[in-house]
Amino acid sequence: MVKFVETSVRDGHQSLFATRMSTEEVVELCKIYDKAGFHAIEMWGGATFDACMRFLDEDPWERLRAVKKVCKKTKLQMLFRGQNILGYRHYSDDVVDMFCKKSIENGIDIIRVFDALNDIRNLKQAVESTKKYGGECQIALSYTTSPVHTIDYYVKLAKEVQKLGADSLCIKDMAGVLLPEDAKKLVKAIKKEVKLPLELHSHCTAGVAMMSYMEAIEAGVDIVDVSLSPLSNGTAQPSTQAMAMALKGTKYDPKLNMKAIHEAEPLMTSIVEEYIEKGLLIPKSFEVNPNILTYQVPGGMLSNMIKQLHDQGAMDRYQDVLNEIPKVRKDLGYPPLVTPLSQMVGTQAVLNVLNGERYKMCAKEIRDYLHGMYGKAPARINKEVKEKIIGNDKVITCRPADLLKPEFEKLKERYKNIARSDEDVLSLALFEQVAVGFLKKKYAKEDNEADEFEMYV
Ligand code: CO
Repeated sequence: MVKFVETSVRDGHQSLFATRMSTEEVVELCKIYDKAGFHAIEMWGGATFDACMRFLDEDPWERLRAVKKVCKKTKLQMLFRGQNILGYRHYSDDVVDMFCKKSIENGIDIIRVFDALNDIRNLKQAVESTKKYGGECQIALSYTTSPVHTIDYYVKLAKEVQKLGADSLCIKDMAGVLLPEDAKKLVKAIKKEVKLPLELHSHCTAGVAMMSYMEAIEAGVDIVDVSLSPLSNGTAQPSTQAMAMALKGTKYDPKLNMKAIHEAEPLMTSIVEEYIEKGLLIPKSFEVNPNILTYQVPGGMLSNMIKQLHDQGAMDRYQDVLNEIPKVRKDLGYPPLVTPLSQMVGTQAVLNVLNGERYKMCAKEIRDYLHGMYGKAPARINKEVKEKIIGNDKVITCRPADLLKPEFEKLKERYKNIARSDEDVLSLALFEQVAVGFLKKKYAKEDNEADEFEMYV
């Protein structure tokens, strides 16, 4: 039997319509999902957390508690970006620890941790803390293709992950570039060397994910990530219903309660229609784009890049930028193109092409990367490029977070006039600007309501 993790209420709407599903919609769906027999429901992560406060005026912690209340049988899963937690910088170990503690206390069962560079040192604290507070820790390997990202590379990494104490392992193919034959070889090789349950996460962007899932399943993968139709395919995960039907009656049958699945369908259809009408879901997102297999560029990165070129009136340089991306990636030691590296590499490629001179201009993040602040690059960084950008500056070789002093108590002091709980402090630490506005508004409203209540008693 293969297990399914339902991703529509996290990755599904994040990939297809900028993570705008409301808590009410998420809770309604999860109420039904809880009867379906999923291994877990992925419902929390960086974009869901940010979008809750930024666009929906909702508290992400309240969403988590509300979903937990209706999910009595099914585990809740979240995506966690190693030492970045859900944000964009490295946080000190005590903040990582507090975030794991509060996530688990509020209802998360499984924390899926990954690092953009697959630098094990950036995962260590999150694994330790998840285990300490009784959570299940899954480590995801960021999947990409390059001369260094071979099957041997991933098997070696998987063995290290096992030693680190993870409960399970995931191949995280964020760009949807894992081809069926590679999926088969990779799963076989990892399963041979590592005893942990293995999960596969991919996207249909290039149109090959379902085939890769089938090959992976036959090669022994234990869990796959799927998203309920019609919030599936395109830039999201393969369809839950299609995968369940394809496996029905075989030894891999996920044995889902299809009655519950059919109950959720009309609800999902109306949600999808609502967001198409609002103009947030562009039907083009459901199209297959095999070009990403050539350029290895994730869908989200491609649309960001097109916007940058469009804003500068330079759409005629589109092909040049596409050709520049693999070169920048090579210069930087082949980082996987996942947040935040995807944005960094994309922006640098645009700068290199538009300035007519490579690395004449550089974003601060690229300098930090070259100084070792993001961790260890997968392959050697181009020496000339590095010298051009940071000269002979000292490069750190230790775990980047080792340079950070504990900061949770300081953050608590800094936000003492706004935060009313440790959860609030964490929201502020991760998305300061957004959270300040959100929490001020939230508490003003609550205080107002309390005053009104007092007037009547
Ligand atoms: Co994904």
